[in-house]
Amino acid sequence: MSTHDALIAALPKAELHLHLEGSLEPEQLMEFAARNKVDIPFKTLDEVKAAYEFSNLQDFLDIYYQGMSVLQTEQDFHDLTDAYLQRSHADNVRHVEVFFDPQGHTERGLDFDVPIRGILSALDNAKEKYGISYRLIMCFLRHLSEEDAFTTFEQAQPWLPRIHGIGLDSSEVGHPPTKFTNIYAAAKLKGLKLVAHAGEEGPPGYVWEALNELNVDRIDHGNRSLEDDMLVKRLVDEQMTLTVCPLSNLSLCVVNDLAAHPLKRMLQLGLRATVNSDDPAYFGGYLNENYRQIAEALKLSADDIVTLARNSFMGAFMDEAQRAEHLAAVEDIARYY
Ligand code: ADE
Ligand code: ZN
Repeated sequence: MSTHDALIAALPKAELHLHLEGSLEPEQLMEFAARNKVDIPFKTLDEVKAAYEFSNLQDFLDIYYQGMSVLQTEQDFHDLTDAYLQRSHADNVRHVEVFFDPQGHTERGLDFDVPIRGILSALDNAKEKYGISYRLIMCFLRHLSEEDAFTTFEQAQPWLPRIHGIGLDSSEVGHPPTKFTNIYAAAKLKGLKLVAHAGEEGPPGYVWEALNELNVDRIDHGNRSLEDDMLVKRLVDEQMTLTVCPLSNLSLCVVNDLAAHPLKRMLQLGLRATVNSDDPAYFGGYLNENYRQIAEALKLSADDIVTLARNSFMGAFMDEAQRAEHLAAVEDIARYY
């Protein structure tokens, strides 16, 4: 136990950057492969775990898309989502805003409805079962075309009342936000919230584009924003939420060492940074593990940790009354530390 573990465990938190497909644990991958009779190139759990070693984003994405192939039925998506919610509940997470990648599933022949039915059936139980509220964010794969994104958006139309926002993920470099300007404009017209991965591996220019061309409400990652003082000023002035993912950044070699992670500097600069787990089954830990390891590596203070929990609710897509309740609950815990 390090100094802040009790505080981290006690604080109510929101998670704003989580790919449901990235919560597929090796054990579950083996189980789903067996029950769906899907061939995977791993015979044992140890072989799966050994494959979860990456040197960059693309390395990870290759395994991530392969892992998805075991997800075949509504029940699989339900079980995957429920397992994530159960783990989040254990971490005292009160609100989640989760991503899914429909194109990762429709591309391999599943109907658009299969993943979303399974995911929503689990999310709809979350409040009663775990005391967790949710938002669902549909991501487009940026290595595919904007036309493909529009096809997916068309398939999503009957579900739009249940989808709260859109996101942009997958291979960043070479696929700038401006590739998706039209689909973001279309989603905004439908009243959806807008987020995009930017500045994970891509340059600060991609963050500018996400702000100026896509009109995003949040930036996912945003690490490389720190290379550009004008951009930092803009992000601070707007109090734009950054959904930072420390263990992901370490696993994908965005940073070489957690001690060199920019989170502390982000807080010092007045950026609204949050801590999130991204793809916890692949990167070595769920939300509290991210808080614990980054707090230890950067010697974060109790105040820093409370700020991160507060920021998670400040950046959430929730109504103001709900936000105020969560923030009050954070302050109730903060008083004791
Ligand atoms: N898809 C799942 N996790 C991702 C990440 N960290 N960056 C880009 N695409 C992703
Ligand atoms: Zn991500």
